[in-house]
Amino acid sequence: MAKSELSDLRRILGGSRSSDRETGALRKLRYEVLVRWAVEYWQQHFGEAPCMALWATENCSNHRALKRLGEGRRLRAKTRYLGYQRVECPHVVPISDYRLPNRRPVLDESVGAFRFRFEQNGEPFEAIYVSSYYEDDDKGIVAVVVLPTDRLEAWAAFEQACSNAARHLERSQNVYIIGGAHESFKPTVDWKDVILPESLKNDLRADMEAFFSEGVNIYKQLGLAPFRKLLLVGPPGTGKTTLCAAVAKLALAQRRVVVYVSGADDDGASFRKVHHALNVVAEAQHPVLLIVEEIDVYLRKDDKAQILNVLDGLESPNNPRGAMLLATTNYPEVIDERIAKRPGRVDRIIHVPLIQDMAQAEQMLIRYMGHQWQDDHRAVLPQLVGQTGAFVREVALYARMLAAHNRETAVSLEVLRQSVSSLSSQLATGADLQPRRSMGFGARRNNFES
Ligand SMILES: Nc1ncnc2c1ncn2[C@@H]1O[C@H](COP(=O)(O)OP(=O)(O)OP(=O)(O)O)[C@@H](O)[C@H]1O
Ligand SMILES: [Mg+2]
Repeated sequence: MAKSELSDLRRILGGSRSSDRETGALRKLRYEVLVRWAVEYWQQHFGEAPCMALWATENCSNHRALKRLGEGRRLRAKTRYLGYQRVECPHVVPISDYRLPNRRPVLDESVGAFRFRFEQNGEPFEAIYVSSYYEDDDKGIVAVVVLPTDRLEAWAAFEQACSNAARHLERSQNVYIIGGAHESFKPTVDWKDVILPESLKNDLRADMEAFFSEGVNIYKQLGLAPFRKLLLVGPPGTGKTTLCAAVAKLALAQRRVVVYVSGADDDGASFRKVHHALNVVAEAQHPVLLIVEEIDVYLRKDDKAQILNVLDGLESPNNPRGAMLLATTNYPEVIDERIAKRPGRVDRIIHVPLIQDMAQAEQMLIRYMGHQWQDDHRAVLPQLVGQTGAFVREVALYARMLAAHNRETAVSLEVLRQSVSSLSSQLATGADLQPRRSMGFGARRNNFES
């Protein structure tokens, strides 16, 4: 930016009258406040040296990135990164976020104002960087940088290095969780403990293994990004999350990276998280299993076009080692309208059914009665067919609690029956409050795929 441009920038940003504007009817965008501050800071420290303002990546203030990019690190464009210093900016309250990989807290995302020092071709220069959280329809980080006009290449090299470092995944990491409580998803379910029709489980497992072993190369031979998409559909409580957890456990045992995106947190389900996940997937340098729960929320909002682009392959991550998306939803109509009628959006739709028969009901009840299981408990099985795994679990837990409360060492059939009928009537009264339960999946299904 030449001097004249700099004065233009100053004029646009409003100089000393800026605060009137900010509080005035015309609300300033967050980035303008940050750029104005950064330019003023620049002028105080570097006088009239020509500078330019740019959008920047949030990864430059990421703790992991800054830690991994030690001082003196050589970058592309004959640039060397010399270090940073945090500076005060009245518009940003510095704050950091953290993650719990393997339950060990690690500082992660961070916002604040920074002075980054570099050397390019032996000449020193600095950049003034500031990032801040914003919240409108969505929550996110906005980041800007002000730097000498002739250092664009050096800055781009630095941003790239920060982004790589921030996204770098360690294989030892359990599950890379994006959004949601950090402990919200645990890959601790054994495959045998998922009680679903064997054909369904076998198909899913075979699909995953075939994809990672042979499929990736076949996709590449066809010139396609090796990105396979499976969708689990079923009513609440049938075991979709349980199945994902078991698949994740298998994937980790095969030394694949598992990335989990949850919509269930304060941040809600914003596409920003999926976008972040896709970046992680693309750059993981390992085969990745990407789990996106309740994908329907992204299909209902403004994010719809973006998520469909991902499914259609326009924005699919291109991870040469292969990436598999395992998505879940409760809403069959979402699939009908937007997915099933458009082949290729999802490679396989797997219906996770209600308990189908007495054999499955028995398996489920035995699992949750544990050592309290008695043969005469079979008498309640007919009432469990057509219910969910979550229902059976609750029936068993409640019966076991009742028995313990009554100081009985065994769970009698009578207590178990009492538990079944109390939970059934509770669900019957609550039926009106739970519209999700009545949506299209009332009837049992026999086909698991379509
Ligand atoms: N098929 C199953 N096998 C074993 N346990 C199950 C099964 N289905 C449900 N459960 C039990 O019920 C609980 C709730 O199930 P889960 O969270 O997996 O359901 P979901 O299909 O993901 O429901 P939602 O659609 O509401 O997210 C699980 O923690 C598990 O204990
Ligand atoms: Mg679930």
